[in-house]
Amino acid sequence: MRYGYFDDANREYVITDPKTPWPWINYLGTEGFFSLISNTGGGYSFYRDALYRRITRYRYNGVPMDDGSRGFWIREVDGTLWSPGWKPARTPLDAYECRHGLGYTRITGTKSGLEASVLFTVPPGENAEVQNVTLRNAGEAVRRISFYAYVEFALWNAQADGENFQRNLSTGEVEVHGGTIIHKTEYRERRNHFSFYHSSRTPDGFDSDRESFVGLYEGLAAPLRVALGDSGDSIADGWSPVAAFRHDIDLAPGAAVELAFVLGYVENDPRDKWAAPGLVKRDAAEALIDRVGRPDRIAAAMEDLRDYWDDLLSRFRIDHPDDKLERMVNIWNPYQCMVTYNLARSASYFESGIGRGLGFRDTSQDLLGFVHQIPEKARERILDVAATQFPDGGCYHQYQPLTKKGNAGIGGNFRDDPLWLIAAVSAYVRETGDWDFLEATVPFDGGAEPQATVFTHLQRSFRQVLDNRGPHGLPLIGRADWNDCLNLNTFSTDPNDSFQTAGDGEGRVAESVFIAGMFVLYGRQYAEICRRTGRRDAADAALKEVAAMEAAVVEHGWDGQWYLRAYDARGGKVGSAECDEGKILIEPQGFCAMAEIGADRGLPETALESSERLLGTDHGLVILWPAYRDYHLELGEISSYPPGYKENGGIFCHNNPWVVIGETVAGRAEQAWHWYTRIAPAWREDISHLHRTEPYVYAQMIAGKEAARHGEAKNSWLTGTAAWNFVAISQHILGIRPHWDGLEIDPCVPAEWEGFVVERRFRGDSYRITVRNESRSGGRGIRSLSLDGRPLRGSVVPPVGDGGVHDVEAVL
Ligand code: BGC
Ligand code: NOJ
Repeated sequence: MRYGYFDDANREYVITDPKTPWPWINYLGTEGFFSLISNTGGGYSFYRDALYRRITRYRYNGVPMDDGSRGFWIREVDGTLWSPGWKPARTPLDAYECRHGLGYTRITGTKSGLEASVLFTVPPGENAEVQNVTLRNAGEAVRRISFYAYVEFALWNAQADGENFQRNLSTGEVEVHGGTIIHKTEYRERRNHFSFYHSSRTPDGFDSDRESFVGLYEGLAAPLRVALGDSGDSIADGWSPVAAFRHDIDLAPGAAVELAFVLGYVENDPRDKWAAPGLVKRDAAEALIDRVGRPDRIAAAMEDLRDYWDDLLSRFRIDHPDDKLERMVNIWNPYQCMVTYNLARSASYFESGIGRGLGFRDTSQDLLGFVHQIPEKARERILDVAATQFPDGGCYHQYQPLTKKGNAGIGGNFRDDPLWLIAAVSAYVRETGDWDFLEATVPFDGGAEPQATVFTHLQRSFRQVLDNRGPHGLPLIGRADWNDCLNLNTFSTDPNDSFQTAGDGEGRVAESVFIAGMFVLYGRQYAEICRRTGRRDAADAALKEVAAMEAAVVEHGWDGQWYLRAYDARGGKVGSAECDEGKILIEPQGFCAMAEIGADRGLPETALESSERLLGTDHGLVILWPAYRDYHLELGEISSYPPGYKENGGIFCHNNPWVVIGETVAGRAEQAWHWYTRIAPAWREDISHLHRTEPYVYAQMIAGKEAARHGEAKNSWLTGTAAWNFVAISQHILGIRPHWDGLEIDPCVPAEWEGFVVERRFRGDSYRITVRNESRSGGRGIRSLSLDGRPLRGSVVPPVGDGGVHDVEAVL
């Protein structure tokens, strides 16, 4: 069952039933001011940091869920209350539609001939959410209504906002100036910032105290004042500051009225923050309102937004008969990648915004998905990440974006982390050709240790893994590898422990075959970087180590039918046919196949076939099988999840593309395509009732075959899944891959495809790449390649470098 449809021409998902199986959200904002907005208008806003600059309040775990923060109500003369987005009033509508577009959302509700439409966006470059309301009377009679608009302010620090009530309930302060309500809690002390809510039309009444507006025993479905049809003109003093405006409006038949509301954020100079004693200096707010707060300004903002996305999306565009493929590749997957660039793992309907900062590995992998869209920003991001690395090549697992320092709380010893830096730098250099980047200098350990070149950081990353090998010559796992829940050194019996920090992160026995696979794959790229920067000896030495690692995997990391996952702290096998549970885990199957470990003996194909047989389902490949039924002290968090969920046998959408890529490396196009389309959201739209999260973005996890709710997705939006699936489809199935020497054309597409055209911007030029699938082989390998009509040898198109448009033709 569907709850809407894709409108590809407008780059929108259109929701036609407000009761989606879970709130289906969108993100507004690209730089400083961000909002989450659901299909019924729920969600919240913050400035840069969802923990320290929370602007509006959200109640996680609310019943009903997704209430609060924003609200619009229309009160009819007969007392009927309704909301354009159905919620919060929840009065049935005659018509409802929500259009989630790129950086904007438009929600329209109609009741008895009155159409109320709200367009929400954050105009590029502005620190404000603008809500443009259009009310249109399509009926025969004059319509007399009161229109209410409402926001609930949070007290800045989202964590304290939810816990320190003995203080919070006495600190709230506001100022009201006509159509502008200023939220200035804590401004008298160390804050120089405030937020405000503004209406473009002079209100007929207002409230700024929540209890006066909503009531103490009423709810948001029918707030006290809205039910009465009046306003309290209340001034918040302590308790809970809100901003609510009432507009009494008469609409003649056929008439329409437009209103603009602005939720803004302003920072003042600390030495010049008062207009008069006790009165906030409002000049910047007024200027902001002037720029964005009139109904006629929205068209320009929407145009800017469209240009912004046109530019980003024009960097990789496919023309293909399959609409689903086009909408994933051209619109939604790159959009989601940009959201992960902006939000990392901070704020979603599954991430509270008060959590963990940026992950070292998460950031490095996200970059693989957005580097072609924003190479300059990707460069900055790599420098930030590298600056948190320790001088010995180890890494803080997470860092705080505001301070750019590593999180001491979680520390390091997640021993895959260093290798992700090589992956990120390699991707950046292959995309841009910016070899100078390797000589850029960057500190270690948050600036506490001296600078070193980016190359030195990579060298230390490589060495870090090499210097930390266990009894079988395989890399030590430390606290965990990519699988944060495979905690082989934790041995925790205390439910108050964190699996990630308890136990012995220095353990010298537990080893990871997955990190070995990474080492082979990224070690080769590292060696190539050495060679191409004139470090021949380093390159040769690195390749020797890579070969040794490959041999170690073949000897100690092969289980007979698939790659082993790990050795635990007692030397026992993890992910082996000998195990009762968790016989096979997906990560090394994907990564070692990508790295072609033991390819001369056919190991990748065997591992991929085992994966298909034992891990495959109609909803994608589960992360392991059989799921752990009991808690295994020696394995850690992985066995803490009920069977079929998350790392314990869920379909972890992040590592399905590793198998997809592995399949293309093995030249098995049908399988690659099959697994790609199992989890890609556009292909799951028809089963939205089961899948439940948004059909336009990836979720981190779909419940696995051993779960009662097999096929149900969770943790949508902020997941490395977005980046890896973009890599899998664009670079490996379509096979348009940034190479050191140019653009490599190496598709692996199903036999039935006739071909496709990709427009790709690369190193300043535009390439129009036409691929014709003449062989219909369902495998890999091009027969011929030409650039602007001239035949090329090999599969790499060298960059032309004239900033022009060039034609590439490839025949399979
Ligand atoms: C989750 C993982 C996540 C980890 C760190 C675990 O509980 O299952 O997916 O990586 O926490 O936040
Ligand atoms: C989510 C985390 O953000 C990521 O770092 C980790 O690799 C996966 N979960 C798997 O555990």
